[in-house]
Amino acid sequence: MKNPVFCALDTTETEAALALGRRLGGLVGGLKLGLEFFTANGPDGVRAVAAAGLPLFLDLKFHDIPNTVAGAIRGAVRLAPAMTTLHAAGGIEMMRAALDAAGEAAAQWGVDRPAILAVTVLTSMGQAELPGIGVAGAVLDQVKRLAGLAQEAGVDGVVCSPHEVEALRAQLGPAMRLVIPGIRPAWAAANDQKRVLGPAEAIAKGADLLVIGRPITAAADPAAAARRIREELEATG
Ligand code: C5P
Repeated sequence: MKNPVFCALDTTETEAALALGRRLGGLVGGLKLGLEFFTANGPDGVRAVAAAGLPLFLDLKFHDIPNTVAGAIRGAVRLAPAMTTLHAAGGIEMMRAALDAAGEAAAQWGVDRPAILAVTVLTSMGQAELPGIGVAGAVLDQVKRLAGLAQEAGVDGVVCSPHEVEALRAQLGPAMRLVIPGIRPAWAAANDQKRVLGPAEAIAKGADLLVIGRPITAAADPAAAARRIREELEATG
């Protein structure tokens, strides 16, 4: 089994991210860089971390008019990430424009087209917040509606919470990639994550990739923590 773990490097420090990425070589499947890192360090920072030699998940959560998202995706593809993200709430035209742009840019730069993943309802939004943005009904219904729209647009997968993975696997079938944060091995602290799943449990429920941050990055020995997770997954997979 290919290592499904992408380690979230939630830092603004390029050197720290690169050093950690180097220590995790062979122990995780890839590294996730998000908005915090990107707004501080930009494309040069991403290129620097790419020197660790691991696949990158560039989690920039694009949400704008189709033309602007297409342009942003072209820039992201030039950095040759394995995956990047956009908000399904941007609509089907926005998602289609992003996919078209990703394909064109990949051909132009001679790189693989990154997987385009859709974010549905942010897990920081609860049931109480939905009416404020004009959404009636249950969170899971909105998640399923946006995931269905993403699938119709042709995106490669969805980022979803441990709470949603089973329902989305059932709804979307086997081909859509499900990428799950909020993963906690039994021996790690939950931190601010409220609904957590163990790595092997998440895979069993239908996850393809796991985003794991602090259980690795805040461990006394990050490489040992990553190795322990890998071994647990191998033992059950
Ligand atoms: O440290 P931890 O394992 O909680 O990090 C999880 C990573 O996944 C962070 O980068 C966080 O921003 C991201 N994430 C999340 N929940 C979501 C979407 C993304 O925790 N619903």
